[in-house]
Amino acid sequence: MGKHSIKEVAKKAGVSISTVSRVLNNSAPVSEKLRRKVEKAIEELGYYPSHLAKSLRKGETGTIGFILPDITNPFFANIVRGAEDYLRNEGYNLILCNSDQNQMQEIELLKVLISKNIDGLLFTGTGSSNPLLLEKIQHGLKVVFLDRIIQGINSSYVIIDNKKGMNLLLDYLIGKGHKNFVFINGNKETFSARIRYETFVKRIRTENLKFKHYFTEFSYEAGYSKAKKLKELPDVILCGNDLIAYGVIDALEEKGYKVPEDVSVTGFDDIPFSKHFKPPLTTVYQPMYEMGKKAAELLLKIIKGEKLINKGVILSPQLIIRESTKEMVNK
Ligand code: RIB
Repeated sequence: MGKHSIKEVAKKAGVSISTVSRVLNNSAPVSEKLRRKVEKAIEELGYYPSHLAKSLRKGETGTIGFILPDITNPFFANIVRGAEDYLRNEGYNLILCNSDQNQMQEIELLKVLISKNIDGLLFTGTGSSNPLLLEKIQHGLKVVFLDRIIQGINSSYVIIDNKKGMNLLLDYLIGKGHKNFVFINGNKETFSARIRYETFVKRIRTENLKFKHYFTEFSYEAGYSKAKKLKELPDVILCGNDLIAYGVIDALEEKGYKVPEDVSVTGFDDIPFSKHFKPPLTTVYQPMYEMGKKAAELLLKIIKGEKLINKGVILSPQLIIRESTKEMVNK
């Protein structure tokens, strides 16, 4: 077992910790010059990577799996970034798998990751249940649910307070005089779409306002095709995420409507492009990078057998008001 840390090797070699990690794990190209510097520092310090020693001794691989539903959605890309930065700094590698919101694919990917003896799994599920995952957790697989909890499976999680996010948005829209709502939501089988739906319907009914709700998919195409079919315009169209909102706005403008003059439109996530969209999108910000980082931190604590103060982490969303919503004249 090394008597020195990866940080001391990096300092002695005059390189970053991630460079040392790349040399130790052969996980990415490193210049010959840097490699020699790191190897010299390791030799002089007599460093032996602790996680490598543990791997040899305890059969750990220093590898974390991550299954997510849509690699093309910047929401998940930002989450992955937060997780990977943290894991790399701790000397772990990440194997990223895209289930394409398809549960059969998700199950196949889980089998592949299990076969690679991952030390733990970050998991953003496609749907409401996954029997294979439940079985693997019962046999000791370390898992942290990220962004979406799977009902009936007792596991640690990092999510945002979706109820708070939806109510912040509705406080604002109702306060601006919107009385007739359409909600074009994401995939019905997902935790996030369902909790936003339940919060939305409860609040709108309490306020005795008019609404229609549609489960679709968390995609541009779903928003575009649903907006094309709308027969009449409400005061505001809420969208399950920013990608749906982009599709809705494009479809409305192709039909000759103006946003927000003819109808307000809102999103959810606040992915980086939303501030540059035309019009810039009013939405609910999710702390994506922090969600990924916190989930990776929680998973490593579980792998190391540390006592957890809380099984789950619930982060706070923020309302971001931009130009895709308006004040209703006859408030
Ligand atoms: O953009 C993808 C959506 O599904 C996000 O709102 C996130 O919460 C995920 O569950």
